[in-house]
Amino acid sequence: MSDSKEIVYGPLEGLIGEWHGDKGLDIAPEPEGAESNPYYETLTFTAIGDVTNAEFQVLTVLHYRQIVQHKSNDKVFHDQTGYWMWDASTDVIMHSLTIPRGVSVLAGGVYTGEKEDDGRIVLEVVAGLNNKDWKIIQSPFMQDNARTTDYCQHISLGKDKLSYSQTTTIEIYGKVFEHTDQNELIR
Ligand code: HEM
Repeated sequence: MSDSKEIVYGPLEGLIGEWHGDKGLDIAPEPEGAESNPYYETLTFTAIGDVTNAEFQVLTVLHYRQIVQHKSNDKVFHDQTGYWMWDASTDVIMHSLTIPRGVSVLAGGVYTGEKEDDGRIVLEVVAGLNNKDWKIIQSPFMQDNARTTDYCQHISLGKDKLSYSQTTTIEIYGKVFEHTDQNELIR
């Protein structure tokens, strides 16, 4: 792994730094329906260099940590970590994430250069149990009781403004539930 200053992080470059946002909204499953949790968060991306796979795939890599707190009582109710990776030769982007429920995801996509109307770049990744490339790993307990079947995330990234929305599809309490999270952050 190298962390020389010449490393180019491509579409991930603009993520580096510490972001804060207090417009978060989480919709989470409950036995009788859904709960809605307004939240604020700190999202920190750190450039950690590049890696070479099988001598010819070079990925540039950011590590991140996401800490999410209830607006109502400041309690941390979601703690997530992982990596974002970019392959300059194919423009494939990858987001690996782990949450402390016994669930890990490797979501992927291609950076197309697509922009929002306001000029911000778009990062989009997906994963699913039936996706041939991008998978979800979960504990036996979660497979049996709260199985994540799909994950998708859309990020709009500008100079000092980042918004995301994500949907985690879960089979829980005898139904299919769309667990969603969204927020707007500034650096
Ligand atoms: C900002 C991000 C997220 C927040 C704030 C959040 C919050 C929550 C909350 C409040 C619950 C309900 C817990 C309970 O009732 O005890 C929940 C459940 C769950 N979440 Fe998330 N979550 C987030 C992201 C994710 C992601 C990325 C995944 C997986 C890819 C995920 C997977 C699950 C699963 C499988 C459950 C079902 C467990 C249960 O309700 O007993 N979540 N989440």
